[in-house]
Amino acid sequence: MPIRFPRNTLAAFALAGLAVTASAQGTGKLKVGLMLPFSGTYSALGVAIENGFKLYVDEQGGKLGGREIEYFKVDDESDPAKATDNVNKLIKRDNVDVIIGTVHSGVAMAMAKAAKESGTILIVPNAGADAVTGPMCAPNIFRSSFSNWQPAYAMGVVAAKEGKKTAVTLTWKYAAGDESTAGFKEGFEKGGGKVVKQLTLPFPNVEFQALLTEIAAAKPDAVYSFMAGGGAVKLVKDYAAAGLNKTIPLYGPGFLTDGTLDAQGDAAAGMLTTLHYADGLNTPKDNAFRTAYAKTFKLQPDVYAVQGYDAAQMLGVGLAATKGDASKKAEFAAAVEKAKIDSPRGAFTVGKSHNPVQDIYLRKVEGKENKMVNVAIKGLADPGRGCRM
Ligand code: PHB
Repeated sequence: MPIRFPRNTLAAFALAGLAVTASAQGTGKLKVGLMLPFSGTYSALGVAIENGFKLYVDEQGGKLGGREIEYFKVDDESDPAKATDNVNKLIKRDNVDVIIGTVHSGVAMAMAKAAKESGTILIVPNAGADAVTGPMCAPNIFRSSFSNWQPAYAMGVVAAKEGKKTAVTLTWKYAAGDESTAGFKEGFEKGGGKVVKQLTLPFPNVEFQALLTEIAAAKPDAVYSFMAGGGAVKLVKDYAAAGLNKTIPLYGPGFLTDGTLDAQGDAAAGMLTTLHYADGLNTPKDNAFRTAYAKTFKLQPDVYAVQGYDAAQMLGVGLAATKGDASKKAEFAAAVEKAKIDSPRGAFTVGKSHNPVQDIYLRKVEGKENKMVNVAIKGLADPGRGCRM
C-alpha cells in the first residue's frame, strides 16, 4: 500500500528539491549565512563586519561568481553555549551555501566543528582562535582576519625592543585571551623579557578595579591586554583614571583601540598596539575603501570592517573559479589558496592552513587615529600548529 501525501505536500517537496539543487549547482541566489554578534559587548564589531561584507558585494553589483546574494542572519550573542544551535539554524534550517562568522573565538570553534561535519564553506571574518587554522583546519574553512597568535606575538617582540623587561598580562579568560597572552609571552620572552603575572577575568566582565590595584603593586615595566569592543573602551578609561598610563604603558593587539577611540577619548592618547591594519596607510586601495565605507555607512571603517570586506573578496575569488557553485569545494579552495587578496590592509595571501600571511603594523594613538608607525613584522604567517588538511 503506497503512502499517499496530499497533492500540495508533494508539490512542496518537489519545490524544496529544486531549490536545493539550484543552489548547490550554482544557479539561483547564493545563500549566505551571517552569524555575528548583533548584541552585547561585541555588537559594534558584528555590525562593522556585516557592513564591510555588504560593501564589497554591492561594489560587485550585488553578485559574486555571477550569483545574486541572499542573506540569512543570526545574532550569536558571543555565547558559545548557544553556538551549535545557532549555526545549525543556518546549516539545517536555512540550508545556506556559505557561512560567514564570527567574532568570538569560543563561538567560532563550534562553528568550525559544524562546518567540518557538514562540509559547508565557512569564512571566519574575525575570531582568532588558533585552533580554527590549527587542529580544526579543513579544506572548506578559511579566515580573512588573523590568528590570536599573530598580533600578540608581534606586540611581544615590540615590547622587548622597547626595552621592557617585565610585563603583567590582563585578559578575558577564554580562548582569545589565553592565546593572545601565550603569543605575547612567546615574542616578549624570546626578546629577553619576562611575563611575571597573568591576570584574568571572565568574559564579558569589566570590573577591573581589583586587578588594577594588583598591577599598581606589582609595578611591571608594561601591561599587555587582550580586550575588544565595550570591554576595551572600559579598560583603557579605567587604566587612565587610575593614573597607571603615566608610569606603565598599556600594550595590546590593536583591538584595544580599534573602533573604540571615539569612546576612549584622551585616555588612549599615545598607546602603542600591533595589528594587521592601521590608520594612515595612504594606499590607493585603502583610501578608496575608506571613502566608500564612510559614504555608505556614515562611519569610519575599522579593522572589523576590513575583515568583513575581505571575507567577501575571498568568497568572490572561490566562486569565480567554480562559476558560482559553492559545492565544488576543491576548486574553491585551490582558487583561494593561490589568490592574492587586494585588501585595504595591504595585499595578502593565505597559508596552507587558510589563515592570512600578512604584515603586522605597529600603531600609535594620535587623536582619533591608530596611526601607522612602521611594519613591526613583515609577512607574518601563523605557525598553523596541528593543522593537517
Ligand atoms: C576573539 O574572540 O577571537 C576575538 C574577539 C574580538 C576581537 C578579537 C578576537 O577583537
